[in-house]
Amino acid sequence: MKKTTDFLKMKQMNEKITMVTAYDYPAAKIAEKVGMDILLVGDSLGMVVLGYDSTVPVTLDDMIHHSKAVKRGAPNTFIVVDMPFMTYHMSKSETLKAAARLMQETGAHAVKVEGAKDVIPMIQALTNAGIPVMAHLGLTPQTAGVLGGFKVQAKTAEQGKQLVEDAISCQQAGAFAVVLECIPQQITEQVTTQLSIPTIGIGAGPLADGQVLVYHDLIGFGDHKLAKFVKQYANVYPEMEKALQHYIEEVKNGEFPHQEHSFNMKEEERVALYG
Ligand code: KIV
Ligand code: NA
Repeated sequence: MKKTTDFLKMKQMNEKITMVTAYDYPAAKIAEKVGMDILLVGDSLGMVVLGYDSTVPVTLDDMIHHSKAVKRGAPNTFIVVDMPFMTYHMSKSETLKAAARLMQETGAHAVKVEGAKDVIPMIQALTNAGIPVMAHLGLTPQTAGVLGGFKVQAKTAEQGKQLVEDAISCQQAGAFAVVLECIPQQITEQVTTQLSIPTIGIGAGPLADGQVLVYHDLIGFGDHKLAKFVKQYANVYPEMEKALQHYIEEVKNGEFPHQEHSFNMKEEERVALYG
């Protein structure tokens, strides 16, 4: 299993870091099998798995429940868990308590928090307590309400410079990596060259030190509209639909279950049964 220091080395060696979200046991198991560097139990869970229209309703208990399943599926992969909405804003003590639960109850290796500014002291407190922190800047879905929706961030030079400053603050506070979501690639380049810690991009262009995608977007599990930055590597949804349709047909017309799916009593028991 890789460690936070390995990700730093990968950046130095110019080896790209691969990260994908995961929310359950079988999905995590495949990701570990193919050698994914990092699994993120993202609070995108709320949207792609739980059917909410944002990440705001996701609770700490939801994150713990799913992270435990991911850990069982990928016991030898570095796992990052998103701290959900409003669990790292009230006070340092509330933040530490929430992160402690995530780490101790799930066996995850790090937490991720969105934003800089007021969150910087929290990153510092978590790091001081021994909890590795991944930062997340640019489009931060938990604050989409304030940002005015899901759109490209830091489009002006001024906003871009601010984002670079924020990323530097996250690094100074102790973050071991930073996710950059939905920003112009020119800003990704600046952050990536100015930081010693790795950047992991989603909708941030090819220059980040690593990439992350939402599992369900990547494999085409769902019929929601995909963001421009997503590449769909497979399309399993129509396959699933076909399978379920076929099952209904075969049950209705009596083709399933077939003899090969059925059990038989031994001959003498059959005789005894029918008399
Ligand atoms: O919740 C999530 O899936 C994320 C990634 C998009 C970085 O935070
Ligand atoms: Na998230």
